[in-house]
Amino acid sequence: MREEQTGPSRRAFLSRATAASVCFWIPRTVKGYSRGEIRSMTMGENVQPGVSKWDLDTPALCVDLDRMERNIALMQSALKTYGLPSRPHAKTHKCAAIARYQLATGSIGICCAKLSEAEAMVANGVDRILMTTSNLSKSKIRRAMSLRKAHPHFIQAVDEEQNARDLSAAAKEAGVVADVVIDVAVGTRTGIPPGEGAVALARLVDTLPNLKLRGMLSYDGGVQHARGFENRKERALKAIGPNVETFEMMKKSGLNMEIFSGGGTGTYNIMHHVPGFTDVQVGSYLFMDMQYLAIGSASGDAVYNDFAPSLTVLTTVMNNRFPGRLTTDAGSKALTLNTPNAGVVGEPGMDYGASSDEFGSIRFTSPPTKNYRIGDKLEVIVPHCDPVVNEYDDLYGIRKDRVEVVWKITARGKSQ
Ligand SMILES: Cc1ncc(COP(=O)(O)O)c(C=O)c1O
Repeated sequence: MREEQTGPSRRAFLSRATAASVCFWIPRTVKGYSRGEIRSMTMGENVQPGVSKWDLDTPALCVDLDRMERNIALMQSALKTYGLPSRPHAKTHKCAAIARYQLATGSIGICCAKLSEAEAMVANGVDRILMTTSNLSKSKIRRAMSLRKAHPHFIQAVDEEQNARDLSAAAKEAGVVADVVIDVAVGTRTGIPPGEGAVALARLVDTLPNLKLRGMLSYDGGVQHARGFENRKERALKAIGPNVETFEMMKKSGLNMEIFSGGGTGTYNIMHHVPGFTDVQVGSYLFMDMQYLAIGSASGDAVYNDFAPSLTVLTTVMNNRFPGRLTTDAGSKALTLNTPNAGVVGEPGMDYGASSDEFGSIRFTSPPTKNYRIGDKLEVIVPHCDPVVNEYDDLYGIRKDRVEVVWKITARGKSQ
């Protein structure tokens, strides 16, 4: 799915992808505030002014607020020109405060991947939810229907006949008529294959007494990271062709098809070519990560620079005693994946490996900009943002290097 960045252009790529930043001043640690100490300084979610991000203890998950807000504004305005609203996927940030911000800035709803994620969101004031994953177990079906009962905007994806019947029965038990979309597969991950079978499922949903058909969703996970815009566009439009035909067949059958949702950060500027498409489920765009930076932009640039990397992990140098190497305190438990490597902000000559549980291992491919001492801090752009967020309780919102806010990662660990 992901296509590797190799060859001599790697350093140039890293240089541009991570230049990004923010701040080139990388001071030694001064305080090392723990999350508890930072929390004790907070008034509600806002931190008393003056705490430098460099004073945070590490590893710390940080988001540059100016960049994140700009990414969100850029996405909203780009989609507006295409005539498509956004329905951002909360699986990326798992943070109710950010979901509320997305809704307040024009998104028509948010998506959730897991039921417990959706429950955490609604408990924190976010209730326009499209569950893009079907719920199979009896307990989940019942819980989904009780969410629907409390929150009339809740929409559930379905991709199988028995599941639709079970949902209808649970909806009856809950005393509701539940809104449902059919998950029609693009590729082979989830969803019912496009064609007659999908249309038959939509007809069934339409006739089941306690379900209301709202349309369909089709997310193409395989194409989001395809390298090169033209390649991505061609592949995305080809792959979704049978789904468009299925959508048309459903419409011609007189079914209610007010929703045709899908797309992501890699295809946000492609999906408006899809007839009937209604909204884009963008996720990573607000944070970005090394995987997405490598896919290339519509302008032909090798760096996907439509959106700026805003999410970083702050890490401390633990060991500088070996020539050409540094060890940090952010390994795989802090960064989750190692493919591609994390990008060190302002240091394109550092190759950052996170394959060890507790430690990051930096190798110099060219001399760093300074001599790093034990206790110095570095900022890294993560390989893939979604799983990293799931590893942290708190997200530090940074503006101009000051900690402005501490957000709870509301749905952290909500993976069921
Ligand atoms: C169903 C669905 N929609 C949207 C997204 C968001 O994708 P991206 O982060 O590529 O924007 C995902 C991500 O995996 C997804 O699974």
